[in-house]
Amino acid sequence: MKKLIRRTPRLAGTLELPGDKSISQRAILLNSIAKGTAHVSNLCEGDDRTSILSCMRGLGVAVREHYDCSVSNMHECFEITGCGFGGLSEPLDVLDAGNSGTAVRLITGLLSGQPFFSVITGDESLRSRPMGRVIEPLRLMGAEIVGRDNDSRAPLAVKGGNLTGIEFRQPIASAQVKSSILIAGLFAKNETTVVQPSLSRDHTELMLGAMGAEIDVDRLRVTVKESELASVNLSIPGDISGAAFWIVAGCIHPDACLKLSGVGINPTRSGVIQLLREMGARISLENPREQNGEPVSDIIVESSQLQGVEIGGDVIPRVIDELPVIAVAASIADGQTIIRDAAELRVKESDRIGATVEGLKRLGAIVEEREDGMVIQGTGMLYGSEVDSFGDHRIAMAMAIAGLVSEGETTIVDAEVAGVSYPGFWDDLQSISLGGG
Ligand code: S3P
Repeated sequence: MKKLIRRTPRLAGTLELPGDKSISQRAILLNSIAKGTAHVSNLCEGDDRTSILSCMRGLGVAVREHYDCSVSNMHECFEITGCGFGGLSEPLDVLDAGNSGTAVRLITGLLSGQPFFSVITGDESLRSRPMGRVIEPLRLMGAEIVGRDNDSRAPLAVKGGNLTGIEFRQPIASAQVKSSILIAGLFAKNETTVVQPSLSRDHTELMLGAMGAEIDVDRLRVTVKESELASVNLSIPGDISGAAFWIVAGCIHPDACLKLSGVGINPTRSGVIQLLREMGARISLENPREQNGEPVSDIIVESSQLQGVEIGGDVIPRVIDELPVIAVAASIADGQTIIRDAAELRVKESDRIGATVEGLKRLGAIVEEREDGMVIQGTGMLYGSEVDSFGDHRIAMAMAIAGLVSEGETTIVDAEVAGVSYPGFWDDLQSISLGGG
């Protein structure tokens, strides 16, 4: 599917974001192994949700969708009946994590703790992504894992059980790897400790704490002991990674005022707000509150005059998924933006450094590719063209935001891929373009 984007004279309205994808995946996985029944509302939408649900069902978990949720007045709710500690069953077939790196890595940690055989795979993009980063620590804990390409890529075959805790120093900050090890640690003898080089998203730690796990967080050091979990009812905050597209759109559009309701602003995720503010963005947070231990706020964003900025170091894990759309903002800003220390972007759903640089160049931006990032000379203007999504949801949506402020028409090729994380994206874009969202 191709999507045609035209520059729109005004951006206005209020949007409710789909549930945060990272929190949703943890809510599904952890409630699946908990004791009791959980009601989860405002789960993320899209293909990644379908993928993780199908994997958990493959392991014998009962998940039911219904519309009369008692824990919130939201429309759709999921009832997850946890199997309890040791209650998962050996899957009859290969588990398919689709496009989701989070699903395959977290589930591989889970499978490592189970005394049975399983195979997990994913789509072409996922099968090309590095899995050695979870295989190595999980093997040290005692799991038997083999995979394609010299045990570095999916499909992965796992024979789990009999784990012993380890202390693992992560070479790269990664919440997926951290979470995979911590989830395995729930089934391991002794303590399991992960030491992070810098802080990555901490949703797993927060949720494990709320579910009664024996977990201790000491800054960068997280320790978990063998624990049984109790199910929790959850209402998932709006996804800041989805909100980031509208935050940037509001900043770079000359006549914009957008309200994004109920967005999760966990400090390990909200680097996009910090960076855009450093660039001069007019962003305000209203009605701050807490939802199941996660900070949430309404976000108001207005047209802003942005300046270039240097982005690198510890902020990178807190903004990793938002960098493509921040690069779009940088191409409209005044002056130079440098993004460094972000080589991890090359092993996401696509090579997001290459994809962003190519897309922005096609739209007339002045951008230079670097091994671990890019350098962008802001010009204040982009010019419509045909750009590829590279089969990556975040690239499709970032380029659409660029299209909203580009002169002429922008066509996004393979635009349907936005449905991996945000199926309502194109409708939301239309509604705020008409000013009535
Ligand atoms: C995620 C962690 C990040 C992020 C991904 C979701 C998670 O990946 O890019 O989209 O839910 O834990 P890494 O942990 O590999 O950095």
